[in-house]
Amino acid sequence: MNTRKFILLLALAMAAVGIAAFALMAVKDRTYVASEAYAPVGEPNRAVAVVYYSRSGHSEAVAREVARTFNAPIARISADYPLDFSGQGKAVSDANAGELPRIEVGHIDLDRVRRLFLVSPIWMFRPATPLWAYVEQANLMGKEIVLVTTGNSRFEQTEIDAFARRVEARGGHFIHHLFLRRGRIYWQKSREDLLAETRARIRDLR
Ligand SMILES: Cc1cc2nc3c(=O)[nH]c(=O)nc-3n(C[C@H](O)[C@H](O)[C@H](O)COP(=O)(O)O)c2cc1C
Repeated sequence: MNTRKFILLLALAMAAVGIAAFALMAVKDRTYVASEAYAPVGEPNRAVAVVYYSRSGHSEAVAREVARTFNAPIARISADYPLDFSGQGKAVSDANAGELPRIEVGHIDLDRVRRLFLVSPIWMFRPATPLWAYVEQANLMGKEIVLVTTGNSRFEQTEIDAFARRVEARGGHFIHHLFLRRGRIYWQKSREDLLAETRARIRDLR
């Protein structure tokens, strides 16, 4: 094979891999991955609670696992980021602009809660915008806050520090950030591995 032909074939192969990755990403972004339902057994733990946002289900699975570990009540934050390109585009632009969306939060009684786990995906290197919106409307006075995030790759510590400052401004004590890296598109952790890592890493926070 001559050099020109080889370069052409290589370029075509690379383009095919790129298109396949993009298509896979688009499909994954539109897919909500359900997790096992959770409700506290008997009398719930009153000292711990979990509040979470999840667009495609992974942070929801983690949030439920945290809640299950502590037999804690749990509430979901809802926000309008549909599972399509428009939703993804809005998520990117709101995250970049620090724009807070309108949210709705499931009922949860935080009065006696001592430690609150806030769970969310990372968007543009920072917790997703619905979690910031939640902090602005929640009464966190005197509560220990543990931030748990899921992401494909990485976060920026400066963004976590800024989030911690908002928590402190609302009266909470930011005590820990736990980042669960799910991995890039071709080598993502299985759901089982993600939940096993969640359990292992919250063990120290009991
Ligand atoms: C708009 C957008 C931006 C993202 N930015 C990041 C990022 O900066 N770092 C990262 O590790 N993952 C990033 N991700 C990947 C998600 O954090 C990851 O897939 C997460 O586990 C999804 O959680 P969910 O299923 O609970 O929505 C981004 C995803 C979206 C949709």
